[in-house]
Amino acid sequence: MTKHTSQVAILISGRGSNMQSILADSAQADCPYQVCLVLSNRADAQGLNTAQAAGIPTAVIQHQDYPDRISFDQQMQHCIQTHHADVVALAGFMRILSAEFVQAFSGRLINIHPSLLPEFKGLHTHQRALESGVKEHGASVHFVTPELDAGPIIAQARVPVLADDDVDSLAARVLEQEHLIYPQALRALAQGEIKF
Ligand code: GAR
Repeated sequence: MTKHTSQVAILISGRGSNMQSILADSAQADCPYQVCLVLSNRADAQGLNTAQAAGIPTAVIQHQDYPDRISFDQQMQHCIQTHHADVVALAGFMRILSAEFVQAFSGRLINIHPSLLPEFKGLHTHQRALESGVKEHGASVHFVTPELDAGPIIAQARVPVLADDDVDSLAARVLEQEHLIYPQALRALAQGEIKF
C-alpha cells in the first residue's frame, strides 16, 4: 500500500519567507508532506508570487470582503477543505482566527511565532525582547488553540540577544531559525511523531 503524503495548506499575509522554506523542504525526495495550497488574506502578499512561480495552487480570500470574522473563516475553511489539506500551517498569517475555525482543524493547525513562548505573545516581539533586556530570544512552532499564541509547543529555537542588536538584526537572527524549525515540525507532524 502506498503511504499517504500529508497535504499541507499554508496561510500567509505577506512576505512568505517561512512558506518558502517549507516549499523548499517539500521538494526534497524524502519529505513526508506536500504543499497543496497557499492561501492569503491579502491580494498583494509577496509570498503569492513565490508560490505561483513554484507551481503551487494559490487562493486569495480578503477579510474585508466579509461582514464578520465567522463568515471570513468559513470561506477559508471551505477553501482549505476543497484542497484536501490534512495540516494547516500559519506562516506570518496576521489575522486572529475564530474558535470555530480552530476547532475545525484541531490538532492539525500549527503556527510559527517569533518569540520563545510563553514569552512575548502577540505583536512586536523583537522590540519587546530588546526593551526587556532578555539575553536570549527565539521562535516557537505551536499547535493553535483558541487562546492567542498559547497552544502546546512543538519546537523552539534560541538565539542570543547581542549588545548592539536592533530590531532588524535580532529579527533576522530569529528568522534564520524559523526557517529551520518550521519544516522540521511539519515533518514530525506528518510522520506522526507528535500529536496534539
Ligand atoms: C515571521 O517572523 C513569523 O514568525 C511572524 O511573522 C513573520 C512572517 O514572515 N509571525 C507572527 O508574528 C505571527 N503572530 P514571513 O512572511 O517571511 O514568513
